[in-house]
Amino acid sequence: MLIRIPKRWEMPEREAAPESAWMNRREILKSAGLVGAGTLLGAEKDASASLYPAKRNPAYKLDRPITEEWAATGYNNFYEFHPTDKQAVKDLTGKFKPMPWSFEVKGLVNKPGSFDLDALLKKVTLEERLYRFRCVEAWSMAVPWTGFPMAELVKMVDPKPTARFMRFVTVYRPDEMPGIKMASWYKWPYYEGLRIDEAMNPLAMFVTGLYGKPLPIQNGAPFRAIVPWKYGYKSAKSIATIEFTAKQPGTFWNDSQPAEYGFYSNVNPDKPHPRWSQASEKVIPTMERRPTLPYNGYAEEVSSLYTGKEN
Ligand code: MTE
Repeated sequence: MLIRIPKRWEMPEREAAPESAWMNRREILKSAGLVGAGTLLGAEKDASASLYPAKRNPAYKLDRPITEEWAATGYNNFYEFHPTDKQAVKDLTGKFKPMPWSFEVKGLVNKPGSFDLDALLKKVTLEERLYRFRCVEAWSMAVPWTGFPMAELVKMVDPKPTARFMRFVTVYRPDEMPGIKMASWYKWPYYEGLRIDEAMNPLAMFVTGLYGKPLPIQNGAPFRAIVPWKYGYKSAKSIATIEFTAKQPGTFWNDSQPAEYGFYSNVNPDKPHPRWSQASEKVIPTMERRPTLPYNGYAEEVSSLYTGKEN
């Protein structure tokens, strides 16, 4: 049987429309009060909503304005809801129940188990950080995430000496996530990975909030990774399982298109994607171009992780 697998760069007509058309559509929706409608759903009702807004950590500064909320919550890559139309994602989240949420930690750790998210959030201190966010597709945003350092969870579960990597698996709910059935050729559920020392870097976060509120479903509610020096696809959304492994785990995009997407995927203006340059990026929502920074501007904090290694 011949199944045609659309490539990630094959955009539907309406997405290839001129940017001005896209902007007009957003402005119309915005003025009609439609942008953001229904974005919080279950998460909004949850008790953990009282945790937001969290105090901003002033150590994390931006070199550009924060992206407007309607754009960061209305232009999303979340293939489980829609595999190609970024603007359709938020409108397809209605069936997804983000709360209550628990996730499993397993593999090479001394303290495996199931973590209830509400209970976990009582044990950590949430903070807001302003981070640059760069997609491999060459668009970028600047986002106020709320979360806690990944390192805190790693310490709680106490990895065994043989553990070297972490594998993150997104929840698999085909009845609540219509994109899974629309794009059945992918190897669901979505999975990603990091080296443990990458996850221990203070910049790596688990995120539960955005713009001072619980994370909207389209941005990965209620619990996602954010690794700001890597292309956005490394930051798995709606995480259900975290596994500690000795061997480098496979990743969703590397397994489906190995020539295009690697494991490390650090933002690098000098390493073009096989089909487009990474030297500059389009700032959402104006689409103005600006130069891409090595490690997305976080070289000082992370470049030592890669001395002498492929990246
Ligand atoms: N996680 C899951 N489970 N499914 C996805 O399709 N897309 C990735 C990443 N995490 C994705 C995912 C990509 S390509 C990007 S750019 C970011 O999520 C987008 O995050 P945002 O919608 O919050 O901007």
